[in-house]
Amino acid sequence: MADAVGNIEAKEYGFGIEQKSEGFFVKGASHLGWGLQDRLRRIFNPVSGNTVMLAFDHGYIMGPTSGLERMDLTIVPLIDYADCIMCTRGTLRQVVPPTSNKPVALRVSAGTTILTDLNNECLIDMEEAIRLNASIMAPMVAIGSPEFEGLTIRNLTRLVDMGNKYGIPVLGVTAVGKDLVRDSRYISMASRVLAENGAHVVKTYFCEEGFEKVVAACPVPIVIAGGKKLPEAEALGVAYRAIQAGAAGVDMGRNVFQSECPAAMIQAVGAVVHEGLTPEQGFEKYNDLKASL
Ligand code: 5RP
Repeated sequence: MADAVGNIEAKEYGFGIEQKSEGFFVKGASHLGWGLQDRLRRIFNPVSGNTVMLAFDHGYIMGPTSGLERMDLTIVPLIDYADCIMCTRGTLRQVVPPTSNKPVALRVSAGTTILTDLNNECLIDMEEAIRLNASIMAPMVAIGSPEFEGLTIRNLTRLVDMGNKYGIPVLGVTAVGKDLVRDSRYISMASRVLAENGAHVVKTYFCEEGFEKVVAACPVPIVIAGGKKLPEAEALGVAYRAIQAGAAGVDMGRNVFQSECPAAMIQAVGAVVHEGLTPEQGFEKYNDLKASL
């Protein structure tokens, strides 16, 4: 307890020195509250402005896909190389060591699988996200789905309300759908709808044509999903072109954990995303690391 008497009198007021009011480096986030900014700062590197998220939430819609059969063996050793991890609450509790100390993009929507209709989803409780110390909450949003667009936008809206209340940002994920056409027109519309509805970050697909327009018209950072497994050099090329077009990082799964050498791949992706390595330099780094591991 502070003493009531005998205290040193306050005198260092710094007259003439203005109190600093720092800007905030994450796109569209400069007017957000402290908790939201703090969590975004944990995800995005303030030097590069970018992030490498490692996604391994696939099991919630597709079961134990290749590379995710034993996540304790395949994913846990990669966590150190990621800026942020994206997974379900099941995986987080069952497999991820709480000592990892990585920001978590928590998959907060749950529902139908690839065996039926994707995207018929509900949300987990907000208290779960708080209890698990989520740094960002990730719901699927199925723009253009005749059945589930309304439902998933309502899910997003509810989460943004709750996230703003408790200081946890929302990563809107443009949904994987069977009939999805991944062109810039669709991706731009989907990303913008998510941002307009309050998503603090958008995860979507890269497209070769017009991706810079997708990024320019989206007032929050875009991180790209890696998509299906490609040869390593090609996947590094996708990451490079996305970053050059203005993406703020990748949220990559299969192109990392299904790689011949996942630990080398995630580090090579990191060098492309944070250091601006070209795909050729990234692939050289991948091969060097692969040879040394
Ligand atoms: C679907 C997701 C995945 O996390 C996402 O697709 C990223 O993984 P990949 O790079 O393998 O596409 O949101 O559940």
